[in-house]
Amino acid sequence: MKTTDSKKKAAPKQSTKKSTEIKPKKDAASGLTELFEDGLKDIYWAEKALTKALPLMAKNATSADLIEALNSHLTETEEHVSRLEKVFELIGKKASAKKCDAMEGLIEEGKGILEETESGVVRDAGIIAASQKIEHYEIATYGTLRQFAETLGLAEAASILELTLDEEKGADKKLTEVAVNAVNLEAAEAD
Ligand SMILES: [Fe+2]
Ligand SMILES: [Fe+2]
Repeated sequence: MKTTDSKKKAAPKQSTKKSTEIKPKKDAASGLTELFEDGLKDIYWAEKALTKALPLMAKNATSADLIEALNSHLTETEEHVSRLEKVFELIGKKASAKKCDAMEGLIEEGKGILEETESGVVRDAGIIAASQKIEHYEIATYGTLRQFAETLGLAEAASILELTLDEEKGADKKLTEVAVNAVNLEAAEAD
């Protein structure tokens, strides 16, 4: 039998000219502290955008459990905004937001689902899917930022970020439960 293990992959040709290397902008981060601050600005924009997107999702949902999950996460999201302001304060910076392209895209995708579904269980299933993508993005972001804070020796900032991280995980879990317990089954019945 032929095995592929022994086959040695040819190393990619090294070009002396790195034509694909991106030239950094003038204000590019030069260290982890700046990268941390950029990440905070990004998620600060995202959380603020979510305080507007979540009510829209809740208004378009029909499942009582889903509406409750979205509304209770809205309350948490408002707290996430305040916590980020606290983290900015801890690092001696003014809270400022920088447009997060990823979150803008995820929210747009969520709105697209509303347009592409009729109100009811199918739209509810779509809202859950879109919301979980958002939560996963936040989980990834807060996981990274908490780690950056720890590495930078910012223990208080790290624990604040961890509080939010845990709530994002909790929201994601709750959405899975709503989907598994009711919405998805009913949506399948609508086929
Ligand atoms: Fe959040
Ligand atoms: Fe969230």
